[in-house]
Amino acid sequence: MQDSWEALARECAGCRECALHQTRKNVVFGVGNPQAEIMLVGEGPGANEDATGVPFVGRAGQLLDDMLAIIGLDRERVYICNIVKCRPPGNRDPLNVEQDACIGYLRRQIALVRPRILVCLGRIAAMRLIDDKFRITRDHGRWYDVDGMRMTAIYHPSALLRDPSRRPETFDDLKEIQREVGRICPRTTPAKPGEL
Ligand code: URA
Repeated sequence: MQDSWEALARECAGCRECALHQTRKNVVFGVGNPQAEIMLVGEGPGANEDATGVPFVGRAGQLLDDMLAIIGLDRERVYICNIVKCRPPGNRDPLNVEQDACIGYLRRQIALVRPRILVCLGRIAAMRLIDDKFRITRDHGRWYDVDGMRMTAIYHPSALLRDPSRRPETFDDLKEIQREVGRICPRTTPAKPGEL
């Protein structure tokens, strides 16, 4: 049977596949345009996301919005979600068992969106979606062809808040993504400078 957003969201909302369901306030499913040509995948919800059910709403989320605006994108032009949909307590990295339990939901989201470009936000997403040997310091900004998509990874906005010295490299990576959007995303019209 064909998958649907309704079925997927319903299953996700009731999920008890790993221990994170015991401590979550909300399942953080995804946000943005389900028909986007560009998808961004983070690691997992933090406290603000757990409280609201929306990905990237805290300080890291504000920075992510600023990063998108630099290249003429916003939440209407992309789809954003995470490797795990429930908050790991204390903001620790999601465990492999938690990622394994949750990855099927992300695979189904990817299959429904069918993005041309998938941007991993940080190491955890890149190791899971691109290569388990991915090293963010070495491999950020590189392009990989995976399952018919162009994939890349940039530093996680939280990492950029902790270490602003990484911002110039991330700016270059964002410009590279902008070029690729112009090349292979015909339905995505970037906002004009100052519009966002
Ligand atoms: N960090 C993430 O990886 N995802 C969020 O949704 C928020 C912060």
